[in-house]
Amino acid sequence: MGETIKKIAVIGAGLMGHGIAQEFSTAGYEVALNDVSNQRLGLALGHVRENLCNLGFAKEDVNRIAARIQASTDLPSVLLDADFVVEAVSEDIEVKRTVFTKIDQLIPPHSIIASNTSSFMPSHLASVTGRPGRVLVAHYFNPPYLVPLVEIVRSSDTTDETITEVTTLLKSIGKYPVVLKREVPGFIANRLQAALLRECFALVEDGVAEPQDIDDVMTHSLGRRLAVAGPFEIFDAAGLDVWKAIAGELMPVIESSPDLPALLTDLTRRGEFGLKTGKGVHTWSSQESEDLRNRLTSALTEIQRWTE
Ligand SMILES: NC(=O)c1ccc[n+]([C@@H]2O[C@H](COP(=O)([O-])OP(=O)(O)OC[C@H]3O[C@@H](n4cnc5c(N)ncnc54)[C@H](O)[C@@H]3O)[C@@H](O)[C@H]2O)c1
Repeated sequence: MGETIKKIAVIGAGLMGHGIAQEFSTAGYEVALNDVSNQRLGLALGHVRENLCNLGFAKEDVNRIAARIQASTDLPSVLLDADFVVEAVSEDIEVKRTVFTKIDQLIPPHSIIASNTSSFMPSHLASVTGRPGRVLVAHYFNPPYLVPLVEIVRSSDTTDETITEVTTLLKSIGKYPVVLKREVPGFIANRLQAALLRECFALVEDGVAEPQDIDDVMTHSLGRRLAVAGPFEIFDAAGLDVWKAIAGELMPVIESSPDLPALLTDLTRRGEFGLKTGKGVHTWSSQESEDLRNRLTSALTEIQRWTE
């Protein structure tokens, strides 16, 4: 365990929050978990147990790990003596700023607040606290207990000491933190994913391919390589002279509109959000949703083993 960080608090027990709490608890930390209702907290603890069972933990270990997570809707008790707070509430800047203000008032002066935001810059959250030096973004990936990377994003006020404490803590539980040199919206991974999303939707809207064809192209080619080699390694392997010629042809014709893809806007307007509503770009029966989650869990567990 990290020397200075003993108690962890996770605020927001949804898809990401419960997984982040689970990972710290599995590593032996006492974790306090907060959400707006007991019903959400109950669901979160149920998911933690289910995840641990799917990962192959014995029943007594599942009980032991789950028992280290204290779930409560009472924010002051959750934050009491918390050294490290991970905020994982909904991606709404006003909700996050309100939560940050409360956290700042309730935790000890030395404590660190990390936001798991996917897009907001840490300076926009740090500014509502009296401790901008102790605020940063720690951007996890879903499911957080199976994807090792955490993007660490600092504002111009975040101290080097804070960065060191957080990266030491995360490395000690098996995470792979990467620290950005400066804050930008979307950090690294979501800027790359946004570029991918724009081109995927453009290819469908322009009638070039069906969504399934695009998924197949990715999983049977680029995705396989990207699990083991980064894009710059892949560009170097192919030859930058070759990529200069390819990029010269393609840069003028690939999608570059600043507008949201019309298809994405239509789907979300109809409430078609993906697995959570049974329909998104694809249609998802509960069995198909379960199969996708299982496919991701088993493949990510396998990849984790190769890289250990
Ligand atoms: N879903 C992903 O793949 C993913 C990946 C990386 C980061 N994130 C980020 O993580 C954060 C959470 O996303 P999620 O996917 O877990 O969302 P989610 O909707 O599953 O969970 C959010 C939870 O926050 C709770 N919440 C809302 N307001 C609250 C408050 N004031 N106090 C306490 N709890 C509150 C909600 O009740 C809900 O349970 C977002 O900032 C999101 O951008 C998501």
